[in-house]
Amino acid sequence: MIFLIFAGELRYALMKIKEALFAGSSTRISERPKQAFPEFAFIGRSNVGKSSLINMLTGSKKLAKTSSTPGKTKLVNHFLINREWYLVDLPGYGYAKMSATGRKQLEQVIRNYVNLSPDLVMLFVLIDSRHDIGQVDMDFLFELGEGQIPFAIIFTKGDKMGPNALAAQIERMKAQILEHWEELPPCFVSSAETGLGKEEILTYIEEVLNNLNQ
Ligand code: GTP
Ligand code: MG
Repeated sequence: MIFLIFAGELRYALMKIKEALFAGSSTRISERPKQAFPEFAFIGRSNVGKSSLINMLTGSKKLAKTSSTPGKTKLVNHFLINREWYLVDLPGYGYAKMSATGRKQLEQVIRNYVNLSPDLVMLFVLIDSRHDIGQVDMDFLFELGEGQIPFAIIFTKGDKMGPNALAAQIERMKAQILEHWEELPPCFVSSAETGLGKEEILTYIEEVLNNLNQ
């Protein structure tokens, strides 16, 4: 069934993911899939739930590899959606237990993608909804601001708290962001366990894609 959502003058059919194909792994921009499509990438601290969220959004349990051990995703992974756009799974940043060399390598992979990808249209920065925003995340957001990289925030693992505690925590984190930024970026709350946030995130992606085509 297709739901129609009315937002002002615009009319969107809720994005339906009909097909999600693994399109390749890379460590640098020059190795990315040859066919260019708009890219929506997922970034955040190691273990925050990037790969799990990609699986939740695409409705396929094993598309992106997940693990309870941080540092699972080490490459940039492109997934082609409906043969129209890519979801991009990135390695996590800020994993303290990794060797300095390993961490530097991952940071290089991330920076290379975020700063040089010509087809990146939106970076979703994932932040664990259970904790206040840490310095590592804030520093990363500052970098995005300086680089004028468009981003949205997704607060993950929304199933781990009761609804009232979750709402209060999200408000605290938004206030934290507003201490440094004049306005909030688009913010979403997700759970890979319950599917919370799926419609909102996919509708937002659809909206961004529609705006690109205008
Ligand atoms: P790296 O690739 O290592 O950077 O991690 P990642 O951000 O891709 O995290 P991943 O999706 O592999 O998930 C890390 C762990 O958190 C796994 O054990 C997941 O099952 C768990 N997890 C991820 N999302 C959720 C969620 O929404 N709710 C709950 N309860 N657990 C989650
Ligand atoms: Mg991962």
